[in-house]
Amino acid sequence: MDFQQHLQEFEESARHRAARTEPRPLGGRLPPAVIRSVQRFQAGEDGDGTSLIAAAARAGDPIYLAAVRLFVAEEQSHAVRLANVLRYAGAAPIGGHWTDTVFVLVRRGGGLRLELLTLMLAEVVALRYYRALRDGSGDAYVADVAGRILADEERHVPFHLDRLRQGFAPTPLAGRVAAAGGWWVLMTGAVLVVALDHGSALRALGVTRRRFVTDVRGLFGPMVTAVFRSAGSSILTR
Ligand SMILES: [Fe+2]
Ligand SMILES: [Fe+2]
Repeated sequence: MDFQQHLQEFEESARHRAARTEPRPLGGRLPPAVIRSVQRFQAGEDGDGTSLIAAAARAGDPIYLAAVRLFVAEEQSHAVRLANVLRYAGAAPIGGHWTDTVFVLVRRGGGLRLELLTLMLAEVVALRYYRALRDGSGDAYVADVAGRILADEERHVPFHLDRLRQGFAPTPLAGRVAAAGGWWVLMTGAVLVVALDHGSALRALGVTRRRFVTDVRGLFGPMVTAVFRSAGSSILTR
């Protein structure tokens, strides 16, 4: 998919959001562990995207930059919806969480590729997390919010993969193998941290830590292939 098409999808999604009134019910109940977990994801979704937008601007493609701005706005809309879920459950959003600080530190100073490689760690974790929240909360409102966020996240992944594939296309095979290996290491660290940090919430949602890690790794494998595979580099397709 080219970035004009990605931009159109983001525009359509933004129009949808603008036309829709988000329900803000009250009086729901969620397990305390799930509330704490949603608070951390809410804080993570709430970034202003400054460094990503700056890196995208330096890349010099106005279509891509416009899509990135809408992507950031879409992530912020997730923060708003998760804040609604917290209010629904009688809780409030928290400020930034240390895992976000780590992400910010890793990303700072790198270019667009490092920015996106790091961001994708959050996206792949989000895919499994929002599925767990959708399927395991036992609450129709929470399931609806999580399902709609999940649908957005499922569009974010190919958007970033397309830009990463383009970004690594000129990189020689040895560099791509090294980057793919480093990406796996980062992802493994990230998913273990999330599984530890959110273990009791995941358990309350019916997903064991082991299941979560295994599923995220299963989602990640094809992403690595999509970014780094090229003719003659079969080592990256396994
Ligand atoms: Fe999100
Ligand atoms: Fe996302």
